[in-house]
Amino acid sequence: MKRSIERLVAQMTLEEKAGVCSGGDFWHLKGVERLGIPAVMVSDGPHGLRKQEQEGDHLGVNDSIRAVCFPTACATAASFDTGLLETLGRVLGAECRAQGVGVLLGPALNIKRSPLCGRNFEYFSEDPYLAGQLAAAQIKGIQSQGVGASPKHFAANNQEYHRLTCSAQIDPRTLREIYLAPFEAAVKAARPWTVMCSYNKINGEQVSESKALLTDILRGEWGFDGYVMSDWGAVNDRVKGLCAGLDLEMPASGGSTDRQIAAAVREGRLPEAVLDRAVERILDVIFRYADGQGAAEFDLQAHHELAVRMARECAVLLKNEGGVLPLGQRTRVAFVGEFAQKPRFQGGGSSHINAFRAESAWEAARGRYEVQYAKGFSAGGDEADEALMREAVELAAGCGAAVVFAGLPDSFECEGYDRSHMRLPGCQNELIRRVAAVQPNTVELPWADEVPAILELYLAGQGAGRAAVELLFGEANPCGKLAETFPLRVQDNPSYLNFPGNGDTVEYREGMFVGYRYYDKKEAPVRFAFGHGLSYTSFAYSGLRADKTAVRDDEPVTVRLEVTNTGARAGKEIVQLYVADCTGAEVRPEKELKGFVKLELEPGETKTAEFVLDRRSFAWYDPQRGSWTCASGRYGLLAGASSRDIRQRVEIELTCTDPKPYVVDANSRYDDLLAQPALREFMLRLLEKEYPPAPPA
Ligand code: BGC
Repeated sequence: MKRSIERLVAQMTLEEKAGVCSGGDFWHLKGVERLGIPAVMVSDGPHGLRKQEQEGDHLGVNDSIRAVCFPTACATAASFDTGLLETLGRVLGAECRAQGVGVLLGPALNIKRSPLCGRNFEYFSEDPYLAGQLAAAQIKGIQSQGVGASPKHFAANNQEYHRLTCSAQIDPRTLREIYLAPFEAAVKAARPWTVMCSYNKINGEQVSESKALLTDILRGEWGFDGYVMSDWGAVNDRVKGLCAGLDLEMPASGGSTDRQIAAAVREGRLPEAVLDRAVERILDVIFRYADGQGAAEFDLQAHHELAVRMARECAVLLKNEGGVLPLGQRTRVAFVGEFAQKPRFQGGGSSHINAFRAESAWEAARGRYEVQYAKGFSAGGDEADEALMREAVELAAGCGAAVVFAGLPDSFECEGYDRSHMRLPGCQNELIRRVAAVQPNTVELPWADEVPAILELYLAGQGAGRAAVELLFGEANPCGKLAETFPLRVQDNPSYLNFPGNGDTVEYREGMFVGYRYYDKKEAPVRFAFGHGLSYTSFAYSGLRADKTAVRDDEPVTVRLEVTNTGARAGKEIVQLYVADCTGAEVRPEKELKGFVKLELEPGETKTAEFVLDRRSFAWYDPQRGSWTCASGRYGLLAGASSRDIRQRVEIELTCTDPKPYVVDANSRYDDLLAQPALREFMLRLLEKEYPPAPPA
C-alpha cells in the first residue's frame, strides 16, 4: 500500500505529533489509533532477540522471552565474514518478524579504544573499516526481513565509566577516521532504518543535541533517511534535541517532554515544520515495518544449530606449538574448570539473551571422546578452593592432555562499568599454573609463554561448548582471526594514560593511533597482533598485483593474489589487504586495513583473492578542507595473514585529481617551495637571480 505520510501528518493534532516523538512505554512507540498508526515494538539486540513482555528494563535484569543467543560481536568480528554477519542479521530479523518486533536495537559498532571498556564484548573491533563492513552486513540481513536495524551508539561511546555524562574530547580528524567511519560505512552501504544516538558528549556537546552529527553529517553527508532515536534516557534538552535531528526519544517520558515540544511550537520557539519532519520520518519507518511481510514463526532448534556453526567460524587459534591441537580422537583428556560445564557465552546488560539452551563442552564431548571433568574452580567467582584444585591437578596429571576452560566471571565484565584490569581471577591463574606443571599438553590458557596452545572462543553464544569440542578434537578447523590487538600488558595500550578520563572528561590523546595503528607506529611488541589467527592447515600467498601500477584517484584499482592451501586438510584463510601511504604528505599510520577476504580451500587448492580499492582507501580526513583528501605519490599495497605477518607487497603510483591547494605565504621555506613540482622552475630562477653564481676568480 502506498500511503502519503505527509497527508497523515497533516491530519494529526499538535499533541499527537509531539506524542509520537517519544515512546509509549519502555519498548513501544506510540500509535495513533484513530489514524491507524500502530504502536510498534523495538527490542535489544544485537546478538539475539531480547523481547521483554513483562516489565521492561535496559539492564538485563528482568526476563525476556526464550530465544537464541548467537555469538556476541567480539566473536563474530573474528570471523571476518560478512556472509556470516548477513546470515546472523537475517535470522534475527526473522525472529523479530515472528515476534512482532519492528526494530532490532543493534548492531553496536563503537570502536574498541581500550580493552577495559565494559561493553567491548558487544563491539566489533579496534579497526573502523572492519567494524563498518561487518555492521553493514548485519544491518542488510536484519532489514531483508522487513525489520529495521538501529546501529548504535552514535557516536564515540567507548567506555562505560560516566557514560551518561562524560565528554569525549576528540580532534576532528580522529573523530572522522576512527570513530565516525564505521557508522559512515554502515549508513552508506546498508541504509539502516534508524540510528541510536549515544549518551555521551563529544567535545562538550551532548550528542543527542548535536546538529552537526545528527543532521549535517548523518543525513546531509551520508544520506541517512530514517529516524534517529535516543539511547534509553539519553535526552537532555528535548526541544534542542528535536531541532538538532533527534526524532524519537526512548523510552516513554511520561508525557512531560511531549508537552515541552507542544509548548515550544505554540510559543514560536520551535518551527512546526521541524516537528512535522521528525514525525514524518518516524511514521515512514513505522509503516515500512507495518506494511511489510515476513516470517510468522521460527525454529529455535534450527537456530541453535546455526549458533553452533557460527561459534565455530569465530574461534581464533592463537597458538599451537608442535601441533598439540587438534587433540587425538582417542587421547584421554581432562576438561578442567567449571566453564566446561557451565559455559559463559554472553555478557551482562541490555544485550543479555534468555537463551533457551546452552550446550556445554562437557555435554558435547561426553560419550563421544575420552573426556573426564574436574571443576577446579567455580565459574562465578575468584575464590580459590584447595580441594577442587588438587582434584583437577591430579586428573590432569593422569590424562594424555588437559584443556582448561578459563574465562571471566559474569561480574568482571558488564554494561554499565569498565574493567579495572585485564587479568583472569587469581584462582584460575593458580590452577592453570599447577596444571601446566603436571601436564605439558595443556590448552586454552591466557599464559602464552607457558602453554603450547590457546584457543580463544570469546563470548560465542549458546553453541560455544559444542563448537569448542569440535575445534579441539579437529572435527572443525579454526578459521577466525583477531579483530583487535592483544597487548602484552594493559599499560601498553595507547589509551592507557587517558582512560577512562578525569571526572566527566576523557581526552582521546592517542588520536588516530588506536590499536595496531599505534603498536605498528611504535614498532612495539604485542602478545597477539590484529588479524592473527592460526589454522590446522597452512597457506601460501603469491602473485600480488594491481591491475594498474599508475592510477588516478577517481578510478578503482583491483588487487589480486593467489592463496594456496599447502597443508593436509581443508581450511579457511582470512587474507587482509593493508594500504601504506609512502607519500610523506601527512602524518599517517604505518598501514591501514582496506580490504579482507575469507577463502575456503581444499588441500592443494589455489584461489584468487580479489580486492577493489577506491579513493577512500588512500585518503585521510583533512579538517581544514572539511573533506577526505589524498596526496599524489607512492602507496604500498600489503597482503597479510595478519597485521604483523605481511606476506606480499607491491607499490602503485597514485595521482590525486583534487590535490590540497599549496598555500604560499611570507613564512614559506625555500626547501618546501622547491619541493613543489609546480613551483620548482620558478624558484630555481628566483634563486639564481638573488644569488648569482660568483664570477670566476
Ligand atoms: C543501552 C542500549 C540499549 C538500550 C535499551 C541502553 O542502556 O545503552 O544499547 O539498546 O539500553 O535496552
